[in-house]
Amino acid sequence: MQDERRNAYLDAMGITRWRRRAVVSADADPRPSASPPAPVDTSGVPPAPEAVEPAVAADDVSTLDWDALRQRVAACTACPLHETRTHTVFGVGDPEADLMVIGEAPGADEDRQGEPFVGRAGQLLNEMLRAIGLRREQVFIANILKCRPPGNRDPRPEEVARCMPYLRRQIELIRPRLLLSVGRISAQNLLQTDTPVGRLRGRVHRFGETGIPLVVTYHPAYLLRSPEQKAKAWDDLQLVLRTLGGVR
Ligand code: URA
Repeated sequence: MQDERRNAYLDAMGITRWRRRAVVSADADPRPSASPPAPVDTSGVPPAPEAVEPAVAADDVSTLDWDALRQRVAACTACPLHETRTHTVFGVGDPEADLMVIGEAPGADEDRQGEPFVGRAGQLLNEMLRAIGLRREQVFIANILKCRPPGNRDPRPEEVARCMPYLRRQIELIRPRLLLSVGRISAQNLLQTDTPVGRLRGRVHRFGETGIPLVVTYHPAYLLRSPEQKAKAWDDLQLVLRTLGGVR
């Protein structure tokens, strides 16, 4: 990406000028292959996220192909969220993407349009991706939940348990080289931990039994409220690039 465009995206992310110059000069290639792979922290590998008994039969969902999975999600009544949803939000992007972004749950805009991250947080997510040379269409974007919790409340454990087989199957079918988990709900559910995002970010985890590398960063909605954290998110995006460069 040309410096000018990259700078525009960094501006949109709110990265300060002195910091932006340093990063750009050190990283002219948006997807460097020469950098050494980021170290993978395998200590304390979390248990697989099926710790809570899923009400959707996991082995049923785990055999579905992409189209059947999409249909299954669209018709899902496994938890009460189906009663209040307008649309299910399956996910969007390239089903063969190297990078899969996983957020929390659809909000009002996403519920209306049936697509994840289409509101203000989605605009910032797009800018974050473009800052590392990726268009929204080049990654796959999904959420922990496929249906909107009313009033945008936090997902309940039983809702997560019922929805998780769908996400797990999506990950199996896409087989991304890296998962980018945005926000507390996503990170804590994927890693089966109560550790705050601030302590999960900055290193490479592994997602359950798949062993797929997973990087945690702040949710774009949080970054909109706390722009002073954007520099840390930028560091996380650099870790994404380094890890993608090292995982083949
Ligand atoms: N926040 C999320 O976590 N996901 C969306 O799809 C929209 C907002």
